[in-house]
Amino acid sequence: MSSPQPHPPSQVADPRVADLVVKGGTVVNAGARTEATVVISGGRIRALLDPSTPVPAATRVIDATGRFVIPGGVDPHCHIGQRLGAYSQLDDYAGASVAALWGGTTTVVDFAIPDPGQKPVDAVRDRRQLAVEARCDTALHGCVVSWDDTTADQIALMADEGVRTIKMFTTYRDTVMAGPDTVLEVLRALHEQGGIAYVHAEADHVVEDAQAAAATEGQVDAGHHHETRPELAESAAVEQVLATAEHVGAPVYFVHQTTPGAVDRVRAARRRGVRAYTETCPHYLTLDENRYLGPDAERFVCCPPLRHPATVDALGSRALVGDIDTLGSDHCCYSTGQKLEHRDDVRVMPNGLPGVETRLPVGFTRLVADRGMPVERFVALFATNPARLNGLPGKGVIAPGADADLVVLDPTAHRIAAVADLHMQSDYTPYEGHALHGWPETVIYAGRVVVDPDGFHDPGPTGRPLHAAPLPEHFIT
Ligand code: URP
Ligand code: ZN
Ligand code: ZN
Repeated sequence: MSSPQPHPPSQVADPRVADLVVKGGTVVNAGARTEATVVISGGRIRALLDPSTPVPAATRVIDATGRFVIPGGVDPHCHIGQRLGAYSQLDDYAGASVAALWGGTTTVVDFAIPDPGQKPVDAVRDRRQLAVEARCDTALHGCVVSWDDTTADQIALMADEGVRTIKMFTTYRDTVMAGPDTVLEVLRALHEQGGIAYVHAEADHVVEDAQAAAATEGQVDAGHHHETRPELAESAAVEQVLATAEHVGAPVYFVHQTTPGAVDRVRAARRRGVRAYTETCPHYLTLDENRYLGPDAERFVCCPPLRHPATVDALGSRALVGDIDTLGSDHCCYSTGQKLEHRDDVRVMPNGLPGVETRLPVGFTRLVADRGMPVERFVALFATNPARLNGLPGKGVIAPGADADLVVLDPTAHRIAAVADLHMQSDYTPYEGHALHGWPETVIYAGRVVVDPDGFHDPGPTGRPLHAAPLPEHFIT
């Protein structure tokens, strides 16, 4: 469905013998669960059979009794091996996609952020080249920093090449910040292409003022990071971008929202008919600003910052009532050494946390195990909604004809997170020592078993570059 071409069957093709059958499990889609046998051939789901039906002949049968079988994850927010400012992230497509698969994510959406002076469409083409090493499927967001008389054509070209989501930053002045005029023009031009803008919303003038005030007190080190990017900066930017989207009649998606104020503004705009969506990240639901008071504060520096415990709790409550649409990792792979280099000044240190591999267990633990979110709702955040919002119709769903990307997990099992057991190219995880539920037991990508209790079975660089379809003109979550 979303794939340009189907994968060849991973086994000898006898049409009477399925490649793979997953039996005995509870199949969970967004909104519904059912006991079913999943039949897979040629990289696609062929059938969901009632458990009373005899199990069809198959090259391999996986017994998922007592397990949930959920769609492979779609991570809508990954930074893979990017150079942002003075620092390069430590992974590449091969490494990040292997870590993604270990964590039950079978599609990653990366950002093509142009180098200074580079055209957005050229940044997209460069990223597509890098993505040939991927072990899982990939899609891309473009990025526009400033509008000029070529930008509308570039947006049309990107759409032709399957990129219909474009990120803009309302912060990071002098590097990637897009001004309000650019935001307006991109929202409008992208809408004409059936696309949707992704916005990092923090009002830069508020951030810069807070940073200047902190600097006069000698408090711009990692230990004060949360004070340099106030919550108000987020809601102010969300308000302005929502007004612009409403004015031009375009949809808009807010990445990594951290505050109930921002989420509530999006919710209120939806009630007025604005097609606005909210993403949050596992770290904003789990970790709080007290991490900046600890000895390894630099490891937790991300933008927006971790928030007050009451904010973290309120954000989780918003997720439970359905006010959050997607869970993105905002994966950024830096080492402790890179973070330490400018620990004394958060304005220049690399920001972002490694997380593509831990998105499932951290999200599942915080939302399902700790707070009782129905697994169906979690599946929507983890896979179904990111697939819909990125125009990937064969993803995020377990149904006949969909791509055979599945995760089998035991909801009763838990494991202590430790960097030594993870596969991201960072020397730390923000969740070291956390008891986490929801680790994948088996991961199936394009009909192949890539993770099982025996370990990782490298599919090789088989990841497909996915092309985003135009979004429908109605709410899709
Ligand atoms: O701290 C973060 N989030 N770094 C990555 C870049 C971005 O703003 O998404
Ligand atoms: Zn961002
Ligand atoms: Zn990001």
